[in-house]
Amino acid sequence: MQKKTIRDIDVKGKIVLCRVDFNVPMEEGKITDDNRIRQAVATIKHLLEKEGKVVLFSHLGRIKEKADMKGKSLAPVAERLAELLDQPVKFVAETRGEELEAAIASLSPGAILMVENTRFEDVDGKKESKNDPELGRYWASLGDVFVIDAFGTAHRNHASNVGIARHMDEVAAGLLLEKEIKFIGEAIENPDRPFVALLGGVKVSDKIGVIENLLKRADIILIGGGMSYTFMRAQGLEVGESVVEEDKIDLAKRLLEKAEGKIHLPLDYVVTKEFKNDTASRVTDAKEIRPDEMGMDIGPETLKKYSDILQSASTVVWNGPFGVFEFENFAKGTKGIFETLASLKNVTTILGGGDSAAAAISMGYEEKITHISTGGGASLEYLEGKDLPGIKCVDDL
Ligand code: 3PG
Repeated sequence: MQKKTIRDIDVKGKIVLCRVDFNVPMEEGKITDDNRIRQAVATIKHLLEKEGKVVLFSHLGRIKEKADMKGKSLAPVAERLAELLDQPVKFVAETRGEELEAAIASLSPGAILMVENTRFEDVDGKKESKNDPELGRYWASLGDVFVIDAFGTAHRNHASNVGIARHMDEVAAGLLLEKEIKFIGEAIENPDRPFVALLGGVKVSDKIGVIENLLKRADIILIGGGMSYTFMRAQGLEVGESVVEEDKIDLAKRLLEKAEGKIHLPLDYVVTKEFKNDTASRVTDAKEIRPDEMGMDIGPETLKKYSDILQSASTVVWNGPFGVFEFENFAKGTKGIFETLASLKNVTTILGGGDSAAAAISMGYEEKITHISTGGGASLEYLEGKDLPGIKCVDDL
């Protein structure tokens, strides 16, 4: 389904409410990864150039009670955005009320303000996260049109996305949301084949829906990372101290049967006796992990086999790292796959968000991948083939 985008609407002189996902990691009030802010800049610039009066909404973190609000103000995010836009971003430390309404009323065309963390409304009965109808109606009353660019929040049915949309005549997708729909949506619905999926990360349980859906859609599934040990056990192999979800072994067995050869598992691993970077390691055949060893990374044979398979792909989707990439000594597998993806020509390469996206950026592959999703949970649910409420509520074209 084609969605209306900001190119299809007139924002000149209008108050444009814009939901972005600026749920960025922070340490002691400092942003440690501004990717989500950078990715929203194109949409915001477009709205400002077209002389909209832009009012930004985002959440930050999870808030249950007043104490959780500490360190969760969006003020540092507004500051970072102002640097990226090279223009002032007025920050309003309220989520409702006279101060906010007056600040919006005084916006001129081409000016922008940011509302405080929408989840501060959760302190009083989860109004934002439970999509309280009064809150959605109130926020909607503050503007003329609504733009959603928050792909990272698209799997949530919250007041600041679905709740506002319900009360607006016009709801359009921002350029980031459009891009996420184009790449992930198309890979799932109508991929250029062969379509190869790479799945890693620690737990099978996080990815059951994704594996089930990709079994129907992808031509080949390459498994790596922590979840591979549960699959190894499902084949009756011993994996020593490696991470295993005992209660998912039967499920892994069923998935392997259903896959009829579509799923490939590692041939070898790099193993250690301790979970740390500086420790002795060895490469072993996947069938010969000793009882006191744990898998930390895929081995060279696996990397070669997977890289060879990737040479023939036309579409590649990857979610979840293939080893403990946070430890430099065990990042070779994940890095090696990035190297292969970077070298492929005329192939659409897509990274699901979360850890693999963070790894791509920190290892310097950001420019070499066709699309790196800004969604964590949202990209997983999208890959599962679910209808995401934060996309569904955007007007169809
Ligand atoms: C994310 O980081 O995945 C999104 O911003 C959604 O956040 P949430 O899981 O707290 O709803």
